[in-house]
Amino acid sequence: MSYKTAILGATGAVGAEFLKILQQREFPLASLKLLASSRSAGKKIPFGDEELTVEKVTEKSFDGVELVLSSAGGAISKKFAPIAAAAGCVVVDNTSAFRMDADVPLVVPEVNPEDIKNHKGIIANPNCSTIIMNVPVWPLHKENPVRRIVVSTYQAASGAGAAAMAELAEGAKAFLDGREFTPKVLPHPAAFNVFCHNSNVGPDGYNLEEAKMVLETQKIFHAPEILITATCVRVPVMRAHSEAINLQFTRPITEGEVREILSAAPGVRIVDDRQRSYFPMPLDATDADEILVGHIRRDISQPDGCGIEMFVSGDQIRKGAALNAVQIAELL
Ligand code: A2P
Repeated sequence: MSYKTAILGATGAVGAEFLKILQQREFPLASLKLLASSRSAGKKIPFGDEELTVEKVTEKSFDGVELVLSSAGGAISKKFAPIAAAAGCVVVDNTSAFRMDADVPLVVPEVNPEDIKNHKGIIANPNCSTIIMNVPVWPLHKENPVRRIVVSTYQAASGAGAAAMAELAEGAKAFLDGREFTPKVLPHPAAFNVFCHNSNVGPDGYNLEEAKMVLETQKIFHAPEILITATCVRVPVMRAHSEAINLQFTRPITEGEVREILSAAPGVRIVDDRQRSYFPMPLDATDADEILVGHIRRDISQPDGCGIEMFVSGDQIRKGAALNAVQIAELL
């Protein structure tokens, strides 16, 4: 079996990673169509021994296509994913457009692969910070249900796309040269700075990224009762997000138990060397498939022994987006 596949948003940061991962994993492609805006139409992109030409996406782009990997922004997905599904495609959508729809599965393959079966043409890929948290928390939750999660993120420029990554590099150069620099993609200078995630802040004071981490995790885990609070910020890192995760379990749990569970968990690599103070770092997570987990310790503020602190880093473009979507396609 091989699949007539299209990438919507092929020229973006996640689109480029789709191309890399499809080749690395030898995904069975019958054909591959690259779709983006009119800005990129005609652009040539190398793929293996071939050169593929980017096409402007239209309503007709999906005729004869079976699988769409989509990452061109929420508005584009809202418009084109239903058109593609009506044309008979299965769309694995990387945007937030359909994630919370009751009849759209929201899937992390290591967590809820069985949910894929209920799809009606669209499967949503979760938010990158959600995926990076869910992969290591799920195996712990299965053993000892998590009652509460307090997570703080350290999010890379890559989450805001290829243009934001270029802006971080430009801004850093300008800062070091003493030149003035006005950001256009992100709301504040990214270089040598930290700021609240660049999504809108809701009436409850949470930004949209924080709300996604809460609601998506509850949906993916099928556990609306888990209490979750998040603080999401951008840090001057090019790609790979990090997260400080504080967990409160139902029963007491030891560091040793956490290490044992995580060392057997799919998609997780433990990086936890106290002697060398070597823990997960975004530079080490860059281009890695696994979520790095370390700095695992008992939370001394929970004297009942039910609390654990840990620090994770995961490649936002890879496991946080393109790899997770390709894994969903492989399960299909
Ligand atoms: P284009 O390069 O033609 O603008 P990123 O997340 O890295 O910013 O990438 C966004 C992706 O979404 C790019 O491939 C971009 O294509 C694509 N895209 C943005 N706007 C549109 C649009 N109106 N129609 C189709 N693709 C779009």
